[in-house]
Amino acid sequence: MRVRGTVRVPGDKSISHRALILAALADGESIIRGILDSEDVASTARVLRAMGVEIPGFADVFRLSGVGLRGLRPPRSALDCGNSGTTARLVAGIVAAHPFSARFEGDPSLSRRPMKRVAEPLTYMGAQFEFERGDGLPMTVRGIDLRSIDWDTGASSAQVKSAILLAGLIAGVEVRVTETVRSRDHTERMLRAMGVDVENDGNQVCLRPARRLNAAEFTIPADPSSASFFVALAAMADDGELVLEDVCLNPTRTGFLSAVARMGGDISREGVREVAGEQIGSLRVRPTSLGPVSIGASEVPALIDELPLLACLAAGAGVDLEITGAEELRVKESDRISTVVANLRRVGACAEELPDGLVVRGEKKELAGTVDPHGDHRIAMAFGVLGAVRGNRVEVKDTRAVAVFYPRFWEDLKAATA
Ligand code: S3P
Repeated sequence: MRVRGTVRVPGDKSISHRALILAALADGESIIRGILDSEDVASTARVLRAMGVEIPGFADVFRLSGVGLRGLRPPRSALDCGNSGTTARLVAGIVAAHPFSARFEGDPSLSRRPMKRVAEPLTYMGAQFEFERGDGLPMTVRGIDLRSIDWDTGASSAQVKSAILLAGLIAGVEVRVTETVRSRDHTERMLRAMGVDVENDGNQVCLRPARRLNAAEFTIPADPSSASFFVALAAMADDGELVLEDVCLNPTRTGFLSAVARMGGDISREGVREVAGEQIGSLRVRPTSLGPVSIGASEVPALIDELPLLACLAAGAGVDLEITGAEELRVKESDRISTVVANLRRVGACAEELPDGLVVRGEKKELAGTVDPHGDHRIAMAFGVLGAVRGNRVEVKDTRAVAVFYPRFWEDLKAATA
């Protein structure tokens, strides 16, 4: 397989959710450029609209008038978060600090995902949470005047960190969050750009009381998670090169690039610059022969969403891979450890589950079979890339799963290998 051309993958999903949320809470009109138009981001827009924010249809450039830090209205019906964990967890932090209650709902996959991680700190701050089944959705959050918090999450989660920061921001109280490893720090960067005193110090972040959030201009870079699929594709190609434009190179997001570089991948960064508080640049990727790699707990947060792809890359390149310290994968859109391992075996690769990760035993051979991603977009895409490698015949069921994240993925994949 030969790769060629330049791909500008869609806008970053994490930053897109945050741009909508922060613009909605700001005073005045913000401008958002390059938002990701996908079902997950539409879920965030839907729940914000349900609380009185007027959000126009997504366009490449659009304006959003914020309602101010305490200007949201009680929703008249349940907040439907669809498939989006970021929507449910960040908005839980927002509702917790408003004087009303809201019921959160999601699709079957989101309803299985744990919400206790946000309920615990927000309850400590004074909010009330009611669960109907276990600690998943549906849940009802009753907001109140919150108190300050100094919380050690004992984990690394940008969603939990952001929920606490947003709750503290709206409540006008100081909050401090400590993580095991710094998770993606887009919320902090964006808040700083909007005039809030937020300080990161290693794996700790502290937000000081703010009275308002200034409107801002957001330019959303290309999503490094989306770009990673093309990095893997080019790394496994026989010939050619791919250029990925304007990719967000925030160091909390580039773990996959580091892992592939350690495997011997040929990735160069070009035109690196800072845009709207984030480092962005182009990636030029050429095929090479790859070697084995291991990923441990301290690295996991910077490539958590790319681990299924890394497993497919190892299987496709026929190299050994060991991932540990990644038990979080079990509570993503699917149990990504068992979904990846089961599907790798279905196509003839040698893989095994670990309680907190997985192992791939590299064998250079052609892979063939039908893959069931269990509705999980990243699994569908990772196996789609594996299927594009010469000699492999991989059929992915449920190709529509990509709609939550990267609606035109299959077209872009085809174009890159044409
Ligand atoms: C995200 C944080 C990560 C990531 C998810 C998006 C975010 O989840 O896996 O895809 O935008 O904050 P956790 O916070 O659960 O680690």
